[in-house]
Amino acid sequence: MTTPAPVPLAQSSTAQASWRYTHTAMLLHWIIAVLVIGNVVLGLSADSLPDDWVRPVIDTHKSIGITVLCLVLLRILWRVSHRAAAVAGRLSGLGTAAAHVAHFVLYLLMIGLPLSGWLHDSAWKDAATHPMRLFNLFPWPRIGYVTRLDPALKESLHDRFGAPHAWLGYALYAMLLMHVGGALKHQWIDRKSVLKRMVP
Ligand code: HEM
Ligand code: HEM
Repeated sequence: MTTPAPVPLAQSSTAQASWRYTHTAMLLHWIIAVLVIGNVVLGLSADSLPDDWVRPVIDTHKSIGITVLCLVLLRILWRVSHRAAAVAGRLSGLGTAAAHVAHFVLYLLMIGLPLSGWLHDSAWKDAATHPMRLFNLFPWPRIGYVTRLDPALKESLHDRFGAPHAWLGYALYAMLLMHVGGALKHQWIDRKSVLKRMVP
């Protein structure tokens, strides 16, 4: 017995042109996805690496994080200045609303994670003697308001910003489980080709 081909979501004569994301939106989605997932691996593995690996790995983690922050700002600008992919027509009203909320939360996490990491790093007591360099190519500033604070206050802020950085990480794992699981479920179980909306 042959399995029917997945049906594109919201494919109708009027929606044809816009049921998929634009190529730029797809490119930004996949570059950021790879960087975010890679950065989670680097962030989580930092503590279990040999001593002489820790510094280069954390420095790379910081550079990737700042790159994500810049790319996500670009992505939001693109998103608000271009017509979004048509709403997934075959999802229920509730399903569509849940997808919108999940995407919005993912955008918040893509901003919140690098920002909290940058704040945490700016309050680091050794920041002055370890200047930040993006991929070891050119200097990147710390957040001046934080670096100028009293050292004792900075020490406590370092922990206070580190905790939300880790919590946002936990929220990201949960959201990604739902996001990726949801995309694969629609694709393979519901037989709706949601992936095609995001794959060139
Ligand atoms: C293997 C991993 C991933 C897969 C298979 C995947 C798949 C998809 C698909 C199919 C869509 C289109 C959904 C639709 O509108 O119908 C989408 C949208 C989206 N994805 Fe992913 N994704 C992945 C990783 C990520 C990661 C790591 C993030 C961010 C942390 C992310 C954030 C988003 C956002 C925010 C949207 C909504 C885009 C918009 O409407 O502007 N995705 N993803
Ligand atoms: C896409 C953006 C980012 C993601 C997804 C991310 C994720 C993570 C995760 C999951 C951890 C491990 C937390 C834990 O222990 O549970 C971590 C640790 C850390 N992150 Fe990030 N991060 C990002 C951006 C940044 C940025 C921009 C900076 C600094 C400029 C930064 C600095 C750090 C530092 C210093 C640690 C602690 C490493 C250690 O000593 O164990 N992160 N990050």
